[in-house]
Amino acid sequence: MTCRHRTSLRRPPRWTRFPLLFLVPLVSFTSAAKTTTLIPNTTFSSRASFDALFAPNYPWGTDHNGAARMSPSQIQLSSDGVLTLTATRAPAGQKPASHGGKQIAIKYLSGAVAARQHFAPQKGGGFDFAAEVKAPVGRGTWPAFWLTYVDGWPPEIDMAEWKGSGKISFNTFNTSSQVQAKDVAYPQPGEWHSVKSEIRDVDGRDVSVRYYLDGKLVVTQGGKGYVGKAMYL
Ligand SMILES: *[C@@H]1O[C@H](CO)[C@@H](O)[C@H](O)[C@H]1NC(C)=O
Ligand SMILES: *[C@@H]1O[C@H](CO)[C@@H](O)[C@H](O)[C@H]1NC(C)=O
Repeated sequence: MTCRHRTSLRRPPRWTRFPLLFLVPLVSFTSAAKTTTLIPNTTFSSRASFDALFAPNYPWGTDHNGAARMSPSQIQLSSDGVLTLTATRAPAGQKPASHGGKQIAIKYLSGAVAARQHFAPQKGGGFDFAAEVKAPVGRGTWPAFWLTYVDGWPPEIDMAEWKGSGKISFNTFNTSSQVQAKDVAYPQPGEWHSVKSEIRDVDGRDVSVRYYLDGKLVVTQGGKGYVGKAMYL
């Protein structure tokens, strides 16, 4: 997978440990006829329900395009349905990651989880992805709740991405250069917030994505040729 994100930290952050919390994900599939829940809000309340629908790490492995390596040791579940992903400094001697022909020094261990199922918007249908989140926004942090194409890149839909600027971003990619990106203020990062994306077929080829923060529509963007394309969550 190729990606446009920055590939390294400009400066090591002062903290050595930060958590990203996810509560009650809810993913549903919509067609003209009905709505089906694919990932219920109880998914993170036990190891068995997590394992049925999610796997640790990225779908392609432990590394992506940042200075953190994913490890199952950084993932915690709790009986009230909260998933906690924690970044900590990596033990010395990590092999560098490789992305886009570049070597990236690994400075942190962190956590990622990927849904076992893939999500391909269908003609006349769509998906809702919703989550309650507590996400850090400090410099050097980069949590994300996102979809990316299984067979290449793009499509990519960033349903919530915090790039260490204090803001939250919502992005839809048609190509690496044709991107709609919306950054807005992210108040009180220490509190829970809700994010939701509604993805809908427009014309049998393209989709629209409505991005919500705390129940308010922030922006509507378009995804070219997304219908029928399977995405990872
Ligand atoms: C989970 O979803 C059910 C209905 O699907 C709802 O009644 C319940 O309040 C939800 N729980 C939380 C913690 O949001
Ligand atoms: C991407 O394509 C969709 C569908 O054609 C369109 O609505 C959207 O404006 C395009 N995005 C950009 C950045 O051009």
